[in-house]
Amino acid sequence: MRPHTHVLFVSVLLRICGGSLDFKVVDLTHDHSNTTIYWPGNPEYNFTILARGNTTGGYWYESNYIGTAEHGGTHLDSPAHFYKDRLRTHNIPIENLVGPGVIINVKNKAAEKADYQVSIDDLKQWESMYKQIPEKSIVIMNSGWHERYPNASLVFNTDSPTDSSTFHFPAWHEKAIEWLISERSVNVVGVDTPSTDFGQSKTFPVHILLGQANIPGAENVANLDAIPEAGSIIFVAVTKIYDGSGGPARIFATVPIKDTSSGCSHGLSFVLLMCALCIFIQIF
Ligand SMILES: *[C@@H]1O[C@H](CO)[C@@H](O)[C@H](O)[C@H]1NC(C)=O
Ligand SMILES: *[C@@H]1O[C@H](CO)[C@@H](O)[C@H](O)[C@H]1NC(C)=O
Ligand SMILES: *[C@@H]1O[C@H](CO)[C@@H](O)[C@H](O)[C@H]1NC(C)=O
Ligand SMILES: *[C@@H]1O[C@H](CO)[C@@H](O)[C@H](O)[C@H]1NC(C)=O
Ligand SMILES: [Zn+2]
Repeated sequence: MRPHTHVLFVSVLLRICGGSLDFKVVDLTHDHSNTTIYWPGNPEYNFTILARGNTTGGYWYESNYIGTAEHGGTHLDSPAHFYKDRLRTHNIPIENLVGPGVIINVKNKAAEKADYQVSIDDLKQWESMYKQIPEKSIVIMNSGWHERYPNASLVFNTDSPTDSSTFHFPAWHEKAIEWLISERSVNVVGVDTPSTDFGQSKTFPVHILLGQANIPGAENVANLDAIPEAGSIIFVAVTKIYDGSGGPARIFATVPIKDTSSGCSHGLSFVLLMCALCIFIQIF
């Protein structure tokens, strides 16, 4: 091989390796559609086709109107939702909506008791299995409830999904939220159920505590079994609604792929070694 061939070879390999991601991206969002679950009292989702078809210009064209309450489906609660003079949606710094994923698995407990509330012990158990909850974490309860979505009777766990006094679903205990606020530093607290307060709550202490601490909530988070309980980075990409009290969010995670990235760098090292060898042979 001549020197310029080496350069070409190495640069092609760098491009292949540089172009391959060393993480996968996992969607944690339910579809926003006419099956989207809203808290009772909200107006219905409105998806209206404005145009869908051939135009006189000879090209295909689609455009729709969407009307949605802020708090439906996979969405964010802004701190202002339950506390006066706290951050509204457009004011939340974007860096507060990204952080290490901490998934608190209470699926067995929620299966036994629908009114389960995540405790300080559950948080300490996560820490004993992994490490201290990292700074700026996005801490989300996985109760298994995301699998019930979008069946409102199953999600609210009642025969009367329009009567919130009959709701039975798990969420956070206020003591665990107080502990997260005072002992740790978290960016977002989430659930795979419709509320950060459990179904039977009448006073919404979790919403109030989070609002007061300027910590957004994430509700109806999907697909939590597809990411590890530790090691992901979660992004809560809420629609930037001016003066919003929340909003629909595309929540997703990146998860490192260990094998592929090391394979690539091993392959690269091997080729660089071979090139060095070729040059060595040419010189001598
Ligand atoms: C909901 O959306 C589906 C698919 O777009 C449509 O077929 C159905 O008629 C819609 N239902 C209502 C109640 O709007
Ligand atoms: C839905 O939005 C369309 C387009 O703005 C409007 O014409 C229609 O009246 C709305 N439907 C409801 C039920 O509000
Ligand atoms: C739109 O235009 C294409 C190409 O002219 C044609 O094949 C198709 O049948 C048209 N579709 C409709 C819905 O008119
Ligand atoms: C929701 O779940 C209930 C209970 O399993 C079932 O009876 C009902 O048919 C489901 N509804 C829909 C729309 O799938
Ligand atoms: Zn909400």
